[in-house]
Amino acid sequence: MNIEEFREFGKASVDYIADYFENIRKINVMSNVEPGYLKKELPEETPLSGESWQKVLEDVDKVIVPGLTHWHSPNFHGYFPTANSFPGIVGELFLSGLGCISKDWETNPACVELEVRMMDWLGKILGLPEEFLNETEGPGGGIIQNAASEATLVGLLCGKEKTVKDTVLSSNLTEEYIRTKLVAYTSKESNSSVEKAGLLASVPMRLLPTDENGSLRGHTLFTAIKKDKESGLIPCCVVATLGTTGTCAFDNLEEVGEICHKEGVWLHIDAAYAGAAFACPEYRYLMKGVENVDSFNFNPHKWMLVNSDCSAMWFKDTKSVEKAFKVKSTLPKVPTFEPEIHHWQIPTTRRFRALKLWFVLRIYGVEGIQQHIRRQIGLAKFFEQLVTSDGRFEVCISSMGLVCFRLKGEDCLTRALLDGVSNRKKIFLMPYILREKLVVRFVICSRFTQKDDILFAWNEIISVVEEDVYPCTKNMSKDMTMKQKVKKKSKPSILKSLDPSNIRSTI
Ligand SMILES: Cc1ncc(COP(=O)(O)O)c(C=O)c1O
Repeated sequence: MNIEEFREFGKASVDYIADYFENIRKINVMSNVEPGYLKKELPEETPLSGESWQKVLEDVDKVIVPGLTHWHSPNFHGYFPTANSFPGIVGELFLSGLGCISKDWETNPACVELEVRMMDWLGKILGLPEEFLNETEGPGGGIIQNAASEATLVGLLCGKEKTVKDTVLSSNLTEEYIRTKLVAYTSKESNSSVEKAGLLASVPMRLLPTDENGSLRGHTLFTAIKKDKESGLIPCCVVATLGTTGTCAFDNLEEVGEICHKEGVWLHIDAAYAGAAFACPEYRYLMKGVENVDSFNFNPHKWMLVNSDCSAMWFKDTKSVEKAFKVKSTLPKVPTFEPEIHHWQIPTTRRFRALKLWFVLRIYGVEGIQQHIRRQIGLAKFFEQLVTSDGRFEVCISSMGLVCFRLKGEDCLTRALLDGVSNRKKIFLMPYILREKLVVRFVICSRFTQKDDILFAWNEIISVVEEDVYPCTKNMSKDMTMKQKVKKKSKPSILKSLDPSNIRSTI
């Protein structure tokens, strides 16, 4: 492909993507394809001679787009948002177009210096304590990681190594022995990536119970630490969540932080989704106690309009990170710039992710970001009001852009509702088990979602209830339980995930 063809291909692709967004409301959010569909559409081998870009673009339209779940459809209400914005898309185009990676400063001065500055902009937007910022005198600093899961692993590894080094100095135990006694803590409601970080770091991760609001409390952590210490174990890390995946619950950071501080245990915060809300001062009370945190992470690539991947992580003391990770370069190097952020990550090199963050922060500005967050929370409140106004439903939880609700009565009704919605494919919802009851998770995800789309979703839910769920219960024969009858109408679908073997935890 020569440079002229690149221009044409690039322009045609941007037009394609613009058309895709312009028409996204007209497409069903869920695809109609069956598992394995792509195998039939694609040849078994790579073409021997190269094909035209026009042919490739044609196949994107014909083969790829029909197999997509449209995460940016205004009717997508599953999981949490994955960020997308026009400045974010162009930023991603630039970072891959310029194509430079970085390691230390000399490998790419702009990349390192923009990232250092962007992490300070971002830290200030969230109202993080100054000691976390790169520009502040002292050992604090921030870096962009690739995912919240990776940030949790980095936080845990830092806590692990710091504890080993501190315990070697303060006891007569050997390093080998200490490593066999380490233990870490999180709540049962934390993301599965936290448990996985424990496996990857070879540190047992205790999944502690939460209170009735899904929040990890100080006394629960204190009791677990005390018990472990009495049996000779050495606590090294706590991973607290601000905005859990299931119900967007907030661990009690004030209580948990105080215990970590007293016990000298590394405290990592996973605020993957809800961290973006701290851009709005009215939500900062939820991070009260943040001064006791050692590492803090949130994903601009979830709720802050920066296309994936972009996961922001700050450390209070980057020296302990360097003690844990810093190794000498394979090729001889003299450091020329501080901070040496490449020592605070797992990969050796990094993409120029700060560029797309810069595009988004400049083009939206702080006010634009605050408006986005507040608008989405407002839409969730609007949906909550619709649910509350219908006596057949109950709202179980409403937090940030998430509303959990259910049909009153047996779980089979809500199950039939979820099945009906998923069979019609017009809106995307997720199930969750909350306090042993089946609930529907409804999240405002797409930045295109407006009030009319919420009404569309609500009408779709009502229509499934009236056409699929209730007729089914009315026609029940006397010897049939409601559970059996509703089940008969439902096809297996997304609810397969509710098999107990697939569920890790519930409040
Ligand atoms: C609270 C929380 N932590 C971590 C993750 C995983 O994020 P990532 O895909 O960036 O690793 C999620 C995903 O939704 C999440 O909700």
